[in-house]
Amino acid sequence: MFWPLQENVISNEDLDLLVQFIRETKRFTQFTKVREFEAAYSEWMGCKHSVYVNSGSSANLLMIYAAAERYGWNPGDEVIVPALTWPTTVTPVMQAGFKPVFVDANLNDFAFDYDQLAQKITDKTRAIFLVHILGFPADVKRVKEIIGDRDIVLLEDTCETQGGTIDGVKVGNFGLGSSFSFYWGHHMTTVEGGMICTNDEDFYKLNVLKRSHGLARELPEKYQAPIKKIHADIDFQFLFLTDGFNFRNTEFNAVLGLCQLPKLDGFIEKRNKAYTRFLQICRQFPDDLITLDHPGKSSFVLPFVLKDRAKKAPFQALIRENGIESRPLISGNLLQQPFLKQYYVPGEYDTADFLHRNAFYIGNNQFVDDERLDVLERLMGQFFGK
Ligand SMILES: Cc1ncc(COP(=O)(O)O)c(C=O)c1O
Repeated sequence: MFWPLQENVISNEDLDLLVQFIRETKRFTQFTKVREFEAAYSEWMGCKHSVYVNSGSSANLLMIYAAAERYGWNPGDEVIVPALTWPTTVTPVMQAGFKPVFVDANLNDFAFDYDQLAQKITDKTRAIFLVHILGFPADVKRVKEIIGDRDIVLLEDTCETQGGTIDGVKVGNFGLGSSFSFYWGHHMTTVEGGMICTNDEDFYKLNVLKRSHGLARELPEKYQAPIKKIHADIDFQFLFLTDGFNFRNTEFNAVLGLCQLPKLDGFIEKRNKAYTRFLQICRQFPDDLITLDHPGKSSFVLPFVLKDRAKKAPFQALIRENGIESRPLISGNLLQQPFLKQYYVPGEYDTADFLHRNAFYIGNNQFVDDERLDVLERLMGQFFGK
């Protein structure tokens, strides 16, 4: 048996449709298929606007720049981020000239230590970048209570929890905007790709402009007439309204998105089914393992949180010898990484440090079946059942 971290979820049927599209179309750069995919995504999400980009990281960077312009943030203003997340939740904040303020993790949903979050808010806090980690919806209600009536923007990084829900509402619908990743190995894939979702029209327009050099012509037609009038002296095709990037994706990737999206809910169901069985297995060993669950989860991976750090390496070695790949829990405590070491304060990130040392994960997707889970159960019995 080989149980890799990531597997190909693009079917032959998806590929046939892509090849057919490539043969028939004359336009490969962002065009109607991208717009179709965005409209379908908004419908699936239950939001007003979606902006397709070339990665989840680009989505995060774009959201930070767009939020900063929308609300007039100043250099050095603070954005609260988790110590436990993928680096590109944090790096956009730094790249855009703001100060990342790190908050420790928790062992119920892996997101913020909410008490510490409340303590880290200052007069300079402009946003909280809430990350729904590894398929578990974070406690949005608690975060909103903490924000109260302060002018603090809530952004959601939903790259690992696509389709997760809180009281029936999909995560990514609770703040100013949210990001998604369609990288290989995520809940659905466009090979590379990401999405920004929002219900805020101004934020949407800024993201559309900044995705593509700041060009006015990128805005949907209904917004164009008044802009043309104001800037009649400049060729509208080359009218730049703001600073921007080139984070566009291609028609090819959008075609894959349109193939994958109708299958997404089925993928999530299978992932959650595998997670439920995984949980049943882990709960046979309560002295060794800490387990997490949430009624609205959208399982991303299968995480092992070991109570005893000394058992991690030998257990990982045992499963590796039996064909199961594993890796650190995201990237562990990011503040242990060389590029963020200067932000590390000993004793302030105990849970992220604990997860850094004691946790790891294996892959989950629609191919994780009972046969694989039987092998895992046997190995865990062999290792923990002694
Ligand atoms: C929480 C989180 N944010 C952002 C990203 C970046 O997404 P991408 O790989 O599409 O750039 C990832 C990637 O897995 C992630 O896990």
